[in-house]
Amino acid sequence: MKILAFTPALRSGSTNKKLIVRAAEIASQNGAQVDLADFHDFDMPNYDGDLQEKGFPSGVLKFANRIQSADGLLISTPEYNFSIAGNFKNAIDWVSRINPQPLNGKSALLLSASISSVGGIRGLWQTRIPLEGLGVYVNPHMYTLGRSHDAFDAQGQLVDEKNKITLEKMVKDYLKFGKAVAEMR
Ligand SMILES: Cc1cc2nc3c(=O)[nH]c(=O)nc-3n(C[C@H](O)[C@H](O)[C@H](O)COP(=O)(O)O)c2cc1C
Repeated sequence: MKILAFTPALRSGSTNKKLIVRAAEIASQNGAQVDLADFHDFDMPNYDGDLQEKGFPSGVLKFANRIQSADGLLISTPEYNFSIAGNFKNAIDWVSRINPQPLNGKSALLLSASISSVGGIRGLWQTRIPLEGLGVYVNPHMYTLGRSHDAFDAQGQLVDEKNKITLEKMVKDYLKFGKAVAEMR
């Protein structure tokens, strides 16, 4: 199974970056072919129908192609103001205008690392909406990592054994779900 793994969080010290690296590693260790993307490669302007008329920006096409090449998506996203991260919603809006629409029929596991003890769950519920609206089979369970600024050691490993075990189980369960979705398509 081919997986595109990414976080829309851009800052260099991002805890969502650390989390997606760990999740991608688990997926890879369990037989998935993982494409770990840097969202900087998908840099794009705000959605603008006039720009679209002139041709999709290269960052949009790169994002769409990488989605198209994958069976499933591993996404670790921050919660911004109780909701989906704005740059990710913008990227989803752009790729939704491409025909055939690349998200349709993919599976996804959503993860979030957040400074708050709630762990970004509110943002994940909002992130499900456009993805499911575009035909993505989103894994029913979602992984949230609260107090993420304290959750990793200097090597980027999760400090708490319970967090490690939960992440491993969720990624493994998602791979089964994702394979079933891929076979169904
Ligand atoms: C614009 C903005 C809005 C934020 N809103 C929330 C929020 O609603 N809930 C939350 O848990 N954290 C919120 N945060 C804090 C993020 O959880 C925190 O910055 C986290 O570290 C982001 O992930 P990162 O480490 O991958 O950058 C917000 C941060 C920013 C920059």
